[in-house]
Amino acid sequence: MDKHLLALLGEAGATGLAKGFSFRYKVFLHAYEEEKSHWNYFRNIRRSVLEFPVFYLFLLIGILSSLMGERAVKYLNKKAEEGAIDFYKKNFEPNSPEIMEILKQEFGHLSLSYRDLRDK
Ligand SMILES: [Fe+2]
Ligand SMILES: [Fe+2]
Repeated sequence: MDKHLLALLGEAGATGLAKGFSFRYKVFLHAYEEEKSHWNYFRNIRRSVLEFPVFYLFLLIGILSSLMGERAVKYLNKKAEEGAIDFYKKNFEPNSPEIMEILKQEFGHLSLSYRDLRDK
């Protein structure tokens, strides 16, 4: 699979996950908006029929983990965001301003795993 397809599907999943987390923890709504913008960025490069299946699958996973509580959400969020950061660092040139901005935002999402999700 090429890196643009992986990024496209990864961001579709990240968008679903953040939306699912926000079911109980509204602090994820901001991350959701940013993931959606990452998804849109890659949609201008590449499209796939798998985007929406992946989005809905991760939406469900996000809702279920949000029902399980803060520890589950923080754990899954940490795995997802560390994975995203690692992926961009390994596969994309850091000289693109768009990728720099995306990376910066992924670090912001990762920080949600290290704070109280209940305060806004
Ligand atoms: Fe993202
Ligand atoms: Fe993210």
